[in-house]
Amino acid sequence: MAPASTVRLLDYRQYPFAIPSVSLDVVIEDRLVQVTSTMAVEPRASGSASEAMHLRGVELELLEIRIDDQVLASADYSVETSRLVLKHPPAEPFSLTTVCRVDPFSNASLEGLYASGGMLTTQCEAEGFRRITFHPDRPDVLSRYRVRIEADRQMYPVLLSNGNLIRSGDVASASGRHEAIWDDPFPKPSYLFALVAGDLREVRDSFRTASGRDVALRLHVEPGDEPFTAHAMASLQRSMAWDEKVYGLEYDLDEFNTVAVRHFNMGAMENKSLNIFNSKLVLADAETATDGELERIESVVAHEYFHNWSGNRITCRDWFQLSLKEGLTVFRDQCFTADLHSQALKRIEDASMLRNTQFREDAGPTAHPVKPDAYQAIDNFYTTTIYEKGAELIRMLQTLLGKERFMRGMGLYFRRHDGEAATTNDFVAAILQGALEDGEPLGFDPEQFERWYVQAGTPEVQIARAWDPQHGRLTLTIRQTTAATPGQPDKQPLVIPLLWSLVGADGEPGEEQLLVLDQPEQTLVLEGLASAEQPPALSLFRQFSAPVHWQADQSMTELFHLFAYDNDPFARWDAGQQLWQRLLLARAAGDVDIALEKQMQSSLEVLLAADGEQDPAVLVTLLSFPGGAELEALQEVAEPLDLYLAGCALREQLGTALAIPLKARLEQMGPQLDQVWPEGQGERQLTGLIWSWLAAAGDHQVRDQALDAVTGPSMTMARYGLRSLQPLDCVQREKALQRFHDRWQQRPVIFDTWFALEASTPRADGLERIQTLLDHPRFDPMAPNAVRAVLGGLAGNPVVFHAADGSGYRFMAQQIIAVDQRNAITASRLAKVFSRWRFYSKERQRQVLEGLALLQSAELSANTREVVDMMMA
Ligand code: TRP
Ligand code: ZN
Repeated sequence: MAPASTVRLLDYRQYPFAIPSVSLDVVIEDRLVQVTSTMAVEPRASGSASEAMHLRGVELELLEIRIDDQVLASADYSVETSRLVLKHPPAEPFSLTTVCRVDPFSNASLEGLYASGGMLTTQCEAEGFRRITFHPDRPDVLSRYRVRIEADRQMYPVLLSNGNLIRSGDVASASGRHEAIWDDPFPKPSYLFALVAGDLREVRDSFRTASGRDVALRLHVEPGDEPFTAHAMASLQRSMAWDEKVYGLEYDLDEFNTVAVRHFNMGAMENKSLNIFNSKLVLADAETATDGELERIESVVAHEYFHNWSGNRITCRDWFQLSLKEGLTVFRDQCFTADLHSQALKRIEDASMLRNTQFREDAGPTAHPVKPDAYQAIDNFYTTTIYEKGAELIRMLQTLLGKERFMRGMGLYFRRHDGEAATTNDFVAAILQGALEDGEPLGFDPEQFERWYVQAGTPEVQIARAWDPQHGRLTLTIRQTTAATPGQPDKQPLVIPLLWSLVGADGEPGEEQLLVLDQPEQTLVLEGLASAEQPPALSLFRQFSAPVHWQADQSMTELFHLFAYDNDPFARWDAGQQLWQRLLLARAAGDVDIALEKQMQSSLEVLLAADGEQDPAVLVTLLSFPGGAELEALQEVAEPLDLYLAGCALREQLGTALAIPLKARLEQMGPQLDQVWPEGQGERQLTGLIWSWLAAAGDHQVRDQALDAVTGPSMTMARYGLRSLQPLDCVQREKALQRFHDRWQQRPVIFDTWFALEASTPRADGLERIQTLLDHPRFDPMAPNAVRAVLGGLAGNPVVFHAADGSGYRFMAQQIIAVDQRNAITASRLAKVFSRWRFYSKERQRQVLEGLALLQSAELSANTREVVDMMMA
């Protein structure tokens, strides 16, 4: 398969040719598609002897090549496996035409042009355009595209591409065939090109922009799916309004198309004016999707829409700058969700997600900076570090500068770089320059801040206190370090914004303060505090002000105090998380911390009481256990199975001990439960959480309620029901899974959930079950959603995946090898399930290594090979 070669940031050089326009003629035939591309080419160094022109092309059958309509002699070019080289292109502007044939019908990679169901669709990011035609296929080559699509009218009644529809109608020369001509006035890189042809149904709405233009919004879905589009459409309209209101950014074309595709490697794609979505992120209503899924759909629709400015109008110079568009767009979609729903809950959700995915990545073999300096397969770098840590860096700029100065910088960024392919340095420079317009000092060293982009690893902040009760003086000694990561043995101190405050003994909150950490060690002295035996409680990293891990010398009493009184929702939640960590780690180590559990129970009783925590959604965050990844990172030797069992046991214990207040709270839940999302979400969450505790404690009435929910009107409650029964070996669980199966087997998008539930259910016959899922008549091995449901479900099934005999690891490795034969992007992402292996016990390491050895000795794609090599390095 593809030979691996390393691409380095240091080698970046501008492409030596500009390509102001690309004209594509795409003729769809029964078994093949013929693509004729005509590019206007302008050598950048005009006059001088022309240098060779390198174009990329993968699995293309080249039929013809012409320069200025002269057929090229074979001596003037060479075609290799993945490139075409013009040895002596003209030194003056010329036009280059290639005619190629591609076969979308046997393209399982889901990159380039491929078939999904009855439609043809494209995915070009990051390097898929080269599977459609010969082209430099790099993001710093921006062109204006004009596209003619021709196809059979019956089979492909809908023909879409980027920009404006210029013409559509019959092809005079061929009966039954029609064509559409699209023109995109905005120059764009090839990765934003898209084309869709198929028998699709359109749902139409519109949006009037702030300046009064009407934009046609068109959603295209497979026949029968039209009833499930209202939520995505409304989400799009909210996104458009938000970007105008908050950033002053308007949509720039007369139409905006979205297509839902069943076979898709990722969530969605921001192609200019033709967004393509994984169908599971479009098709949803309250009966078919959970509250969480509705929120996720809203945020992904927003994410892709926001890319129109942060990504499309301003794109990336090269793929090392990927976080320029992804980190910024995640930051924007996070703010959108927080504005529409709840700042507090969104921040907690994002912090928890960062800790459980990004921190784990940053501590393992695939750790890399937000701006990497080398890669083999760029698809492997669509990571939580690029996306979520990238967003955190931008949020830190906002925290350091204050919102007003930060937004001035944003304004400058969008004005200054519109129409360009930019770098993350350009971004930071624009933010800082915009901020500085008021003449005030920055308050930190900008060069030091930029280290965040190039230094991998999660910084560790240690805070030690000295309390002088007589003088009311508190001295904080704060140290920061970052552990070595692959290729980066030595780390430098970073600029870390620390938002903190004191919380008095009476629960009275102090003023929130910003301390900028920038030294390996620094101290903060607080004078004039009330003299008391203990210092006031210290609330740290409020709002999760930096993506760091910290340790402070807080006592359990202090954490309980913050858990009860901290007025920053994140910090309050985090105090509870530290307590939960203690409890779960103790249980996993086989010694229950009885005193601490009793104390926790008392504070939960207070929270659950009628006059306790009123907001059910907040209560749920306080009652939620930390993720497995976070807990593993705190274990000397990671034992995922022990942690899983500890969670089950703690739920059972709490469900038993708190049965009365839990039931009382459950009974208070009234008509709000049936309200339409986002209303009633907190009530539903709390009901689900209480179910899972009480069901674990053996409450048969609750188990029956959970079972009934599976056939009820709300997908949210159905899934809470299933989730609370899943860990329990009981009749209700088997019935619940069967009923879910029977109810949804005709709907692939939803049925994937059944695959995931089955695969993640702890059972004695684990792997045999999983094999039957892979052999299930409704399992589509070409659909990444289905593959991820089963194999991702397996990875999340500690009992089966981490079975002591290593069978789970070997099975997973074999499956990844099979997936890799067809779909490298999905396989290499799955391969990361092994990335924790060095943290396991010696015996477990030996078992994982057997699985990894299978992978190593297999014939792998460059993508999966790179991931496996990183894990073995
Ligand atoms: N740019 C897409 C996003 O919004 C990511 C993406 C979609 C992607 N499809 C892909 C990346 C295929 C690599 C390969 O985040
Ligand atoms: Zn994105």
